[in-house]
Amino acid sequence: MASGERSEYDELRTLMEETLIKAGELIKKAYLSQTSSFHHKDKFDYVTETDRNSESLIRKMLNSRYPDDMVIGEETFSGQGLPPEPCWIVDPLDGTTNFIHRFPHISVTIARWDGKDLVAGCIYDVLRNELFTAVKGNGVYLNGSPVVLPPKNDVLHSLVATGFPFKRKDIARQYLASFQEIFHHVSDIRRAGSAALDLAYVAVGRLDGFWEVGLKPWDIAAGVLMIREMGGIVTDFWGTPEVLQSGHVVAARTPELHSLILRAVKKSLAPALGEETTLKTTHCLR
Ligand code: IPD
Ligand code: CA
Ligand code: CA
Ligand code: CA
Repeated sequence: MASGERSEYDELRTLMEETLIKAGELIKKAYLSQTSSFHHKDKFDYVTETDRNSESLIRKMLNSRYPDDMVIGEETFSGQGLPPEPCWIVDPLDGTTNFIHRFPHISVTIARWDGKDLVAGCIYDVLRNELFTAVKGNGVYLNGSPVVLPPKNDVLHSLVATGFPFKRKDIARQYLASFQEIFHHVSDIRRAGSAALDLAYVAVGRLDGFWEVGLKPWDIAAGVLMIREMGGIVTDFWGTPEVLQSGHVVAARTPELHSLILRAVKKSLAPALGEETTLKTTHCLR
């Protein structure tokens, strides 16, 4: 690596890590003081003042170093899709429902998009002080040390995570059909409530696979980069790599497990997702 590239790598990594540690302090303080009130964004979708305070702190820190860059944060972004120019993608608190219920599993995450591709990402487990960092081409670091992967499990012994479609209870039956199919073939399934951490865990081999409907770029951007950096597979429900567009995610450490999950979601869940299914299927068949 040339020295210029090296310093950009160091700079991105340091900025993301310092920003998330500061945001993590803010979140942890609010979590411990039990003072954060919540509002409904939608029927089962909540936001707290801590989500908003964290996003504003992160925006300030990123813009103090990159003043012209757009910051796409969950609580303020109203546009569609990612821009064709460099920007930051921010989930200021991943696991808001856990945070509100004091279920101790929450994170905060930042990713860098260069206008075409994901180039860096960081996920911080606020209560366990675990900081996962990736810069494209440089693997994944956990608390500053390169991650050493454990051996891969075969499908039968794999541990898979998922997220329930709590904002789409209309497709619960189809989701449960995918669950049943996958559950039948793997060791066990977890639903912990932070998609960013689910993906970080697949990247570092604590989980073997993951699937969820309708995630947003801020939930998954850093984790998608991490899984790919560690040799794992991430696609949408139609098997294409453009997962940031639909947010319907299938991730796995091995091709065998990826195929199993993909087959299950294609059969039961993808057809319930409406018009985009037809478009994507046509695209895949070409
Ligand atoms: C949520 C979490 C959860 C997932 C949801 C996400 P938020 O993010 O990642 O695990 O199931 O789909 O919306 O709203 O807590 O940032
Ligand atoms: Ca949210
Ligand atoms: Ca989220
Ligand atoms: Ca969030």
